[in-house]
Amino acid sequence: MGRAAQSSPIKQVRTMAKPLASIVSVGVTRFGARDGLYARELFQEAAQEAFNACPELSPRRDIDGLFVGQMSESYEHQAHVAPMISDWLNLPLTPAFRTEAACASSGVAMRCAIFAIQSGAHNVVLVGGVEKMTNRPTADVTEILGMASDFPFEQWHGISFPGIFAMMATVHMTKYGTTEEQLAKVAVKNHQNGILNPKAHFQKIITVQDVLSSRPVAWPLKLYDCSPISDGASCIVLTTPKLAKKFTDTPVHIVGSGQAQDTLGLYERDDPAFMNAPYFAAKKAYKMANVRPTQVDVAEVHDCFTIAEILAYESLGFCKRGQGGRLVDADITARDGRLPVNTSGGLKAKGHPVGATGTAQASEIYLQLTGQAGKRQVKGAKIGLTQNVGGSASTGVVQIYRRGD
Ligand code: COA
Repeated sequence: MGRAAQSSPIKQVRTMAKPLASIVSVGVTRFGARDGLYARELFQEAAQEAFNACPELSPRRDIDGLFVGQMSESYEHQAHVAPMISDWLNLPLTPAFRTEAACASSGVAMRCAIFAIQSGAHNVVLVGGVEKMTNRPTADVTEILGMASDFPFEQWHGISFPGIFAMMATVHMTKYGTTEEQLAKVAVKNHQNGILNPKAHFQKIITVQDVLSSRPVAWPLKLYDCSPISDGASCIVLTTPKLAKKFTDTPVHIVGSGQAQDTLGLYERDDPAFMNAPYFAAKKAYKMANVRPTQVDVAEVHDCFTIAEILAYESLGFCKRGQGGRLVDADITARDGRLPVNTSGGLKAKGHPVGATGTAQASEIYLQLTGQAGKRQVKGAKIGLTQNVGGSASTGVVQIYRRGD
C-alpha cells in the first residue's frame, strides 16, 4: 500500500484543522561527547544556528519568550536554568521558563510555548532543550536519570531505566512473541539513518548480529539496544500562523498537540507492555489535527531503548497492539518504507541528551517537511508526527505537523 498521503494529499491537507502555532526555523548542535562545552554554550550553538537560518528574525527585537526543557540540575550542579539561557543568548529582559518532564522536558516546553502563543501573551518564542551529560561517569548519569522513576519502589530497590525498559520488553516478548531479533532490527534501522545525519552521536552501520552479540545491559536489552549518554541542545522558533510568513516562505504548522500522564512507577500499571500516556496524547493530537495514523508521512519517536520504539508504534496506532515487531520485520518504518520512523537516527543513533530530545525531534520533522533533510529526505513528506516520553512513559507528548502552504 502506498502512503495514504500520496493517494489524495490535497484533499487530506484541506480537511485538516487550523494550525496552533508555526515553526519558522530550527537549530540543533552535533550530539555526542562535546568535551569542554557547558550546557549554556551548547544551547547558544543551537540557537545561533536557528537565528542564522532565519535572516528575517531579529532575536532582540522579535523574541518575546524563551522556553527551555532540561531534565536535571545535577549534571552540571546548575539550577535556575532559564535566566542562564536568556543571559547567554543576550536576551536579558525576555521572560524565560524552564520545564522538567524527564526525557520529555522539551516536548513539554513546546506545549507550554504553544499555549503561550495561543493565549496571545507571546508572539515569537524560542523553544529548546539541553543536557550536558558526558562530564559525569556512567554510574552517576544512571543515578541521575533514575531519579525520574519512583523513589520508594523503583530507585530504592536499585532498578534503573535499562532494567525498567527490560521489564517492558520481557512482558511484550511473553505476551506477543516479540523477539530479540526484532528489537535488534530497530537499532540497525536507526543506525542506518544516523550515518546520513552529520549531527548524530553515532555514524556507524551495525548488523543484527552486532546487536545480538553486544554486551548485556539488562536482558533482553544489550548495549546496542540502548540510546547513549550524550551532550547536545536543540531549538525551534515558534510563532503565530499569521506571523509565520514574515519570517519564512516555508513554515511548518503544528496542527495537533496532546499530552497525558501515567503512573510514575511501572509496577503500578495493569499492562507494562503498553504505553498509555502516549496513546492518550496521540488520541488528542490526531483528533485536534483531524489526521489518521495512516496519513503520517514521517515520524520521530522516543526510542530510548529498542523496545520503546516498538511500543511507540502500538500507542500511536501505526499497528495493532503486539504487532510492533512485525512492522520492523516488514521494513515499513525504514527510510524507504511506507511510514519512515526516526530518519534522524532516533535517540539510538542520533543520541539522547535528554532535555534536548523533544525539540530535536521537532527539528527533524521541520527539516523533512521543508525538504531540507539532505540524504535522509523522505520524498514529498507533508505530515509529520513526534512522540516524546518521560521516564517509563509516565509523561507522553505527541505533536502533529503539516507543511505550510
Ligand atoms: N550504543 C552503542 N554504543 C555505545 C552505547 C550505546 N548506547 N553506549 C556506549 N557505547 C559505546 C561507546 O561509544 C564506546 O565505544 P568505543 O569503545 O568504540 O569508544 C563503548 O561503547 C564504551 O562506552 P562507555 O561509555 O564506556 O559505555 P558505558 O558502559 O559506560 O555505557 C550504557 C553504556 C548502555 C550503560 C549507557 O550508554 C546508558 O546508560 N545508556 C542508556 C541511557 C539512558 O538510560 N537514557 C534515558 C532513557 S529513559
